[in-house]
Amino acid sequence: MSTIRSVVFPVAGRGTRFLPATKASPKEMLPIVDKPLIQYAVEEALAAGVQKLVFVTGSSKRAIEDHFDTDVELERALSKAGEHGLLAVVRDIVPSGVNCIYIRQGVPLGLGHAVLCARPVVGDEPFFVHLADDLIYSEISCLKQMKDHFGRHGCSVLGVETVPKDQTESYGIVAVESVADGVQRITKIIEKPKPEDAPSTLGVVGRYVLTPGIFEKLESTGRGAGNEIQLTDAIARLIADEPVHALPFEGIRYDCGSKLGYLRATVEYGMRHPELGGDFRDYLKNLEMPP
Ligand code: UTP
Repeated sequence: MSTIRSVVFPVAGRGTRFLPATKASPKEMLPIVDKPLIQYAVEEALAAGVQKLVFVTGSSKRAIEDHFDTDVELERALSKAGEHGLLAVVRDIVPSGVNCIYIRQGVPLGLGHAVLCARPVVGDEPFFVHLADDLIYSEISCLKQMKDHFGRHGCSVLGVETVPKDQTESYGIVAVESVADGVQRITKIIEKPKPEDAPSTLGVVGRYVLTPGIFEKLESTGRGAGNEIQLTDAIARLIADEPVHALPFEGIRYDCGSKLGYLRATVEYGMRHPELGGDFRDYLKNLEMPP
């Protein structure tokens, strides 16, 4: 069975919910405490053993390329100042032997279209798709959990979570059936259904293992919800040909594409932070409503 070597990070969305912060700088560069969302994403993927980081970028995304590039001047300055801890922090973002590849999505036609743009570098192999604004805190990297599931079953896997009934319009929603070993096979998937049309409250979050069969489906998928080429619609067609599983992963998800989710992540990652967590928790304990 083939292993998973590539992860696709679609980062070409417009990030309108975070305007004006995302006017000139990508949503994925928003920091949670001291690291941008996209770095958390890369670390999760590296923990799952990937070797190819494929970023599907758009306009105003240069900062992502710069972030993962070597900054010779900065490294020289830190070295000269004896800041060896910080030097390691900026130097070790991407280990040697791991490739960063950038592909441009000329027009943001939707998540499905962004994934299709990665086809030439992913090739005929299974791959991960990771949406950096879904930040997942877990003991075992969420992508590693998905890779392990893929290793056992050899089919596409979608990360899922139960969502509130009144929020189904923000997610791809799946119906599942339990197969022999308690594994959940997806029987139906709908993008952003109204609560009354949703087949369940199991929502797809931003973690996918996809077999290369998805590319053919994407090639012939027209525009769907929001007038965009939806990954969900291509998956809906994939399930007719091959099994696709739902995996309720272990971990806490923060929807950092929404302002409230982003604030929750900032507070909770701050509370867990090895250096400032103690002081920050003290601060929160005594916090009163500011004027
Ligand atoms: P979202 O639906 O969150 O859209 O995209 P968005 O543009 O990022 O944010 P809002 O809703 O305007 O605030 C889900 C993921 O798909 C990527 C986004 O970058 C995000 O990771 N995406 C979306 C693309 O890469 N290309 C697209 O054409 C659309």
